[in-house]
Amino acid sequence: MNSNDREFLFSEKYRPHTIAECILPEYLVKVFKGQLKKGQLQNLLLSGASGLGKTTVALALCEELGCTVKFIRASEDSGIDVIRTDVLNFAANGSFGASTKVVIFDEAERLSGATQEALRGTIEAFSANCRFIFTCNHKNRIIPALRASRLVEVDFVIPTEEGPKIASKFNKRVKEILDAESITYDDKVLAQVIMRYFPDFRKTLNELQAYANISDAIDEGILGKWSNIDMEDLLESLKKKNFKSMRKWVVDNLDNDPLIIMRKVYDELVDVTEQGPELVVILADYMYRQSFVADGEINVVALFTEIMNRITFKE
Ligand SMILES: Nc1ncnc2c1ncn2[C@@H]1O[C@H](COP(=O)(O)OP(=O)(O)OP(=O)(O)O)[C@@H](O)[C@H]1O
Ligand SMILES: [Mg+2]
Repeated sequence: MNSNDREFLFSEKYRPHTIAECILPEYLVKVFKGQLKKGQLQNLLLSGASGLGKTTVALALCEELGCTVKFIRASEDSGIDVIRTDVLNFAANGSFGASTKVVIFDEAERLSGATQEALRGTIEAFSANCRFIFTCNHKNRIIPALRASRLVEVDFVIPTEEGPKIASKFNKRVKEILDAESITYDDKVLAQVIMRYFPDFRKTLNELQAYANISDAIDEGILGKWSNIDMEDLLESLKKKNFKSMRKWVVDNLDNDPLIIMRKVYDELVDVTEQGPELVVILADYMYRQSFVADGEINVVALFTEIMNRITFKE
């Protein structure tokens, strides 16, 4: 298969269409199977880290229940008037037969507070005609007034004890995808890639696809990517508080996932500072932010700037 055949992202091409196909912890399976059994959706707020299946589940639930869907990808500039008109038009028309209408607000935390505030009224006004599903990374960015509008909050987290089982199911799924795409792989390497990005399934698929496009097989080369991050130059820049060379280092290392860069900082720099515990707290904060910042590069530069301001390195 040549790379032209792979113009579609695996993560989209192999997006599950049913809840049964989604790889989920047991408590989530119960919640969603419950909705399917009742044959009726509640208004839902699906929250959790990236690539765990929130958008996928929202769409799969609607598909399985045969709902008519209006998918709204939220953005900061979608003002309430535009949204209200969209929802109104959808609720008034657009349905075929007796199917339930569902509005999915994807990545809802991007909506401004005022828009969220106003949405509560919209939900109430249309509650007889429509169900609403919100997805977001951090539910604390959804204002309480909106959360209180009869949204059932569902947190996407993988309980630690279920981690190995979920990872092994995902491993099996990834193999099926690679087989279907005629991409060969080394079992051990694949397991490492999955653990590296776990539980971000999208990221795992994207990284495998990107690597397969240049090498046609998943081999050890994909792991090399992570060891190539040269921390010595970075350490020099941070020690000397050289903002310019630090920025250059970030640009030179942009191919790497920012979370992996941050993990490298944790592994290699904590012990060479005078304030290890403080550095850990700073890192944890920026790693948390990474999943919802608009620009990952700026977040990494901000992290290193904060490190330069607050941390002294041992000579
Ligand atoms: N639970 C899952 N089971 C199987 N595949 C999954 C699962 N979660 C994610 N994926 C894969 O990753 C892709 C992206 O998932 P999805 O868009 O649902 O993530 P998300 O949780 O909405 O992430 P984000 O917070 O970034 O919007 C899916 O199309 C699918 O290929
Ligand atoms: Mg999503």
